[in-house]
Amino acid sequence: MSGTQPRSEEPGLVVLSNRLPVSRVGNKWQTSAGGLVTALLPLVSTRPTSWVGWDGGSHKLPEKLPGTDAGLVGVGLSRADVKAYYDGFSNATLWPLFHDLVGTPEFQRSWWEAYQRVNRSFAEAALKTGEELSSPTYWVQDYQLMLVPQLLRAGTDAPVRYFLHIPFPAPELFARLPWRDQLLRGLLGADTVSFHTEHYRRNFVRACALLLTDVTVRGRDIVLEDGRVVHTQANPISIDTTDFAEDARSEEVTGRLQRLRRQFAGRRVLLGVDRLDYTKGIPERLLAFERLLEDREDLHGRVCLVQIAVPSRGDVEEYQRLRDLVDQLVGRINGRFTRPGEDVPVHYFHRGVAREDLLAYYLLADLMLVTPLKDGMNLVAKEFVTVQHAALSARSATEGAGALVLSEFTGAADEMPQAYLCNPFDLDGVSAVMATALSAAPEERRRRLDLLARRVRRHDIHAWAERELDQ
Ligand code: ADP
Ligand code: G6P
Repeated sequence: MSGTQPRSEEPGLVVLSNRLPVSRVGNKWQTSAGGLVTALLPLVSTRPTSWVGWDGGSHKLPEKLPGTDAGLVGVGLSRADVKAYYDGFSNATLWPLFHDLVGTPEFQRSWWEAYQRVNRSFAEAALKTGEELSSPTYWVQDYQLMLVPQLLRAGTDAPVRYFLHIPFPAPELFARLPWRDQLLRGLLGADTVSFHTEHYRRNFVRACALLLTDVTVRGRDIVLEDGRVVHTQANPISIDTTDFAEDARSEEVTGRLQRLRRQFAGRRVLLGVDRLDYTKGIPERLLAFERLLEDREDLHGRVCLVQIAVPSRGDVEEYQRLRDLVDQLVGRINGRFTRPGEDVPVHYFHRGVAREDLLAYYLLADLMLVTPLKDGMNLVAKEFVTVQHAALSARSATEGAGALVLSEFTGAADEMPQAYLCNPFDLDGVSAVMATALSAAPEERRRRLDLLARRVRRHDIHAWAERELDQ
């Protein structure tokens, strides 16, 4: 274990997440990408904080999160535990089960045993570091740590909050899990259990009512047998809109955008930005784009799709299959529609890109395609509208604005009714929505973007955190 905070009288915070928010690049540590990290980063500087997470196999973690005073507490996992707890139970059992079975969950007792063991290690590390803080609040993140609230509750009277960053499935699906009661009781160790949407919250409360005989539902509260009350709430996660808007106007991003504009001159750009995950609907998106090219010869050579996919969970079989499928589809579409001497219709990057490049791509895009088959929230949608909106004033009225094509099956869709909504399973439908959004009048695109960006700004990451913590 590495460093924690010097004791201060200010109320402390212990954050627990599977991954620590740092990664090693060459011989330097830097803050890493990902929805959860992006979301929490602006918050850890506001109070004495210790962040507990998997050390990723490194015994030389920095003591503090670079650029902040937050302490980092690494939890070591054996190779076998990484396989069984992370690749197995977290990402081959819970992830597909909680994403409406768009992948097939596997149930293995040895994975479950590893999950329990690792959750215990996290809880022990958190309680230890919590002793060094004054009046700590424990803030547990996501599906990898669903047993931790109960384990903390057994060791402290301090407030425990839990946030689920992925969907909570319908109780009928959740009920398939052999260890369903244990997971529910794990979560019910928290004082507050939070979800992105009202729909997920209701699924959780219904699951408790259906599967646990000794709890009573009272409005948004769940009352346990011993009288303890667990509050549930919906609180959609968001982004630091000020930060994204400022960066979008920076010289660095403007320079990169100009370069991209030259490279993609004469073509309208459709953009996808995701982790390479089967929940994100990347093959389906490619197929819908292929359909668009089949139906609209007039668009050949005039539109292209840029797909940026960060490698993710590469040791899990279903992710390996997805990688092969995407390679194959990109090859097929480019083979079918590339014209002699011209650029390819699909530009596929199997890697993450630097933030400045990401923002430049957001600014370049005519259409942002956020078409997951299921997604707890989707921050890319919120980042895109924020960044595009920041650039609106510098554009002429006839230039219009980028349009967001958004899957109905994302948490973000609840807050973004002005997006071009689509059903990602309906290839003809998605292809038609792409065509509609491409031909929308500039004023219409601006009107929609304005409403979307304002809504995201009203409930930004700070509003989210305030609701999570200041109760
Ligand atoms: P998830 O949490 O499932 O990965 P989100 O859309 O909520 O999905 O969050 C993804 C985060 O990772 C966003 O902040 C986004 O900017 C970042 N990201 C996604 N893809 C890339 C990429 N190819 N390069 C750099 N950053 C990326
Ligand atoms: C989603 C999950 C996070 C996870 C992230 C990246 O956002 O909700 O808990 O950290 O994906 O996935 P990874 O498995 O690489 O941590």
